[in-house]
Amino acid sequence: MTGNPIDRRTMLRSAALLAATALAAACTPDPQPPATTTPGPQETPVPTTSSAVLLVFFSRAGENYWNGGRRDLEVGNTAVLATKIADRLGCDVYEIQAADPYPESYDETVARNVREQDDDARPEIAEPLPDVGGYDTVILASPIWNVRPPMIMSTFAEALDLTGKTILPVTTHAMSGLGRAPDVYAELAPTATIGEGLTIRGEEAADADTELDRWLSTKNLT
Ligand SMILES: Cc1cc2nc3c(=O)[nH]c(=O)nc-3n(C[C@H](O)[C@H](O)[C@H](O)COP(=O)(O)O)c2cc1C
Repeated sequence: MTGNPIDRRTMLRSAALLAATALAAACTPDPQPPATTTPGPQETPVPTTSSAVLLVFFSRAGENYWNGGRRDLEVGNTAVLATKIADRLGCDVYEIQAADPYPESYDETVARNVREQDDDARPEIAEPLPDVGGYDTVILASPIWNVRPPMIMSTFAEALDLTGKTILPVTTHAMSGLGRAPDVYAELAPTATIGEGLTIRGEEAADADTELDRWLSTKNLT
């Protein structure tokens, strides 16, 4: 990827705060006029074709799986992919951060995740949740942990009213693809539409430009 990943992450964190405080920017539609307003003779209605997108992601830096071994990641794979998506869409970004951060150690994270899955837990999110009211499309990006998104993604999807929105699942993984992500989100947000997702091997997140561009264009997001 281009640019310093740490700077990128900082940028995304800032964007997360902006989204959390509902300071919607580039992807948010302009305020709508009152319903009764009709265009005057001089006014030409401007057709709107773009959809307002919120990118939500969770990612864990630290020791991780890497081509059958382990590698210390300064920036998590999903964060790398999320940066590419944000760069292309210029959309609002909300990074999910755990109130109780996950361990640096891969094995300890696996063990904690097993406990959380067994308990059907909803790990607490550190920052206030974003106001999703103005968005048509919510991209939910995360790693795959034990064949599904981490339970903290369920915390997010369950806490918000995603009625009428299109959820696009995005995952990075070692071998499980999207795993159960589409089913999990369909279960937690039954009044949303689940669109076709994108999945990238974690080790290939930095080189995923072609696949990402193809997916974004099939979703009419670019
Ligand atoms: C706790 C844990 C469980 C994982 N389980 C799976 C799995 O079931 N299937 C899979 O393909 N990859 C699995 N992985 C690998 C991650 O999905 C992959 O490395 C991902 O790119 C990590 O993204 P991140 O760096 O954004 O957290 C697991 C990784 C961790 C830490």
